[in-house]
Amino acid sequence: MLLHSTSQLLTLAGGPRRGPDPVDLGLILDGAVLVRDGLIADVGSTQELLARYPNEQRLDARGKAVLPGFIDPHTHLVWAGDRAAEFEMRLQGKTYMEIMAAGGGINATVRATRGATAEELFRQTHERAEAMFRNGTTTAEAKTGYGLELQAELAQLETLVRLDEEGPLEIVPTFMPAHAVPPEFKGREDDYTRLVCERMLPMAAAWWKKRCPGKPLPFVDVFCETGACNLAQTRRILTSARNLGFPFKAHVDEFENLGGAALAVELGAVSIEHAVKTSAIEMQALGKSETVVVSLPCTPFGLAETHYTPARQMLDAGAILALASDLNPGTAWCENMQFVLALACRYLKLTPAEALAAATINAARAIRYEERLGSVEVGKQADLLILSVADFRQLAYRFGGSLVEAVIKRGHLIRVR
Ligand code: NIG
Ligand code: FE
Repeated sequence: MLLHSTSQLLTLAGGPRRGPDPVDLGLILDGAVLVRDGLIADVGSTQELLARYPNEQRLDARGKAVLPGFIDPHTHLVWAGDRAAEFEMRLQGKTYMEIMAAGGGINATVRATRGATAEELFRQTHERAEAMFRNGTTTAEAKTGYGLELQAELAQLETLVRLDEEGPLEIVPTFMPAHAVPPEFKGREDDYTRLVCERMLPMAAAWWKKRCPGKPLPFVDVFCETGACNLAQTRRILTSARNLGFPFKAHVDEFENLGGAALAVELGAVSIEHAVKTSAIEMQALGKSETVVVSLPCTPFGLAETHYTPARQMLDAGAILALASDLNPGTAWCENMQFVLALACRYLKLTPAEALAAATINAARAIRYEERLGSVEVGKQADLLILSVADFRQLAYRFGGSLVEAVIKRGHLIRVR
């Protein structure tokens, strides 16, 4: 298939972007893409490609923008139930941390998720995955962490594997048994850390090797925050993960700075997530590291807070910045990366080009798929969006809806509007 006559073809060619320099989106005006066997086979101007492939089946983009599919590198996609009642409590003045300390928050969703049948969990998760895909997300990282005991965590992992097998949304799973301390371990937090390190992580690795032979291990993630894991517990969990061969990430500095960013850089984490309260010294360290900063602007927005990732400072320090939705039932029920871009331009002060790079090639880097996904380059997977508008900046300028008209996933065209 030869996709031609785009207004803008935003290739994002050239690898992940880092630092403060203006982002070059690899723009080709009136560009065209040749797709064969699910891969990108050629990229150039419409004139060139129509001449080079005269007999190819054609798809006319009719003057609309074409870009790589969005990659959402941080979601908590798999859960049961909702927390609308907690949302209302927060509007009346209770904080997220107070609700969590009183047994609500993540543990409320843990109760609902443990109580759901496998079919029910799949159905509810599938609905969200479909919504993400319609809004232009072609690959999403997705975490467990609402089971908090081995079997329930593995059930979440199984849901994610099934979802990925079914498609079209591609799922990159993360095992996150240290998302919170389950109620049965209240007051015995270190015992839970030990259970995670000595039993849950090794069992998950064994489960994975049997269920998905030959596939790289999922990520491991941990919530380093007062009320979840302290710095010492985070270190133990990430070190155990590393020793077992898992690539790993860490939620740090969402509400308080416990030193998690520095620890993540020291241990060689693939990414840190949230990074709102990160210190200037830690930003310098991130700027010199390969650890990606995944910012989640839906989360402060969802909590009606005013502090966002200091993205400009991160970029000035030389960091690799990615954007994600954080899709979850507590702080950010958002299935739309276009809204993430809209927030990032306003509150993180990114340009539309920086935001787009952060949601495509840099997001691919945050899940270690930058060799295969995140840009329109020969040999990469053909995951593309055709917009309903000619100028990609409309993605961030407008908000509350979707400007994605069609999604191409692994070379298959799916109309979504
Ligand atoms: O990234 N911070 C931890 N996890 C989620 C919230 C999950 C929940 O409240 O259910 C987050 O914001
Ligand atoms: Fe999160």
